[in-house]
Amino acid sequence: MQGNIYKSVSLILLVFLLYGCDRSRNKPGWDYFPDMFYSTAYETYTVNPNFKDGMTMRVPVTGTIPRGFTPFHYTIDEDSRIKAGNELINPVSPTEEVLLKGKRVYNAFCTGCHGETGAGDGLLYSGGLYPLPPRPLIGVDAEKLRDGEIYHSITLGFGSMGSHASQIRDEDRWKIVHYIRQLQTEHKNNAGAVSEAESK
Ligand code: HEC
Repeated sequence: MQGNIYKSVSLILLVFLLYGCDRSRNKPGWDYFPDMFYSTAYETYTVNPNFKDGMTMRVPVTGTIPRGFTPFHYTIDEDSRIKAGNELINPVSPTEEVLLKGKRVYNAFCTGCHGETGAGDGLLYSGGLYPLPPRPLIGVDAEKLRDGEIYHSITLGFGSMGSHASQIRDEDRWKIVHYIRQLQTEHKNNAGAVSEAESK
């Protein structure tokens, strides 16, 4: 008799246990102590009845910009580049530190095509890996480029050259502009020294 009771109780327990195993993701069963299990806040990507558009995640107010980001209201055409040349002033002063940083960033991102001296003879081009001749950044024509035009070319790209806006911080682009000026001066001084030597 007693044996039967034990058997029935064990059977009932077993049924409960097996029922507990039947756990589908949509029907999790009973929770023990669910106090902090379910968030009362809306989850980021869930529907939210409190907003007109029904989204929990909010979009930035129109016209706001991220901290540290400078908007650039120019387009990639030549007219816009000339406009940038007329309107933009290099906000960075060419201190020794700035020139050093400009050199470092230039050597990392521009030398491959434009060459270490800016002559347009970088290894990518001279080695045949990049087919389009990069323009020289030194010499009479390049000297005529305004700071804003160079900045415009780095930021948006120029002709077949792509934009470097995502790789180089805004401030560092201006530092490169200073460094290019330094390369131009060095080039001019070297050229002067050569012609002086030739005339002797
Ligand atoms: C992958 C090769 C490549 C890299 C890297 C590159 N450039 Fe260029 N760049 C070119 C080519 C090619 C042109 C000429 C495009 C054309 O004429 O269509 C050019 C044009 C320019 C011009 C316009 C020159 C003019 O006479 O108007 C400037 C300024 C310039 N590059 C600066 C830079 C700077 C600064 C960097 C580094 C941040 C850089 N470029 C990186 C290939 C490159």
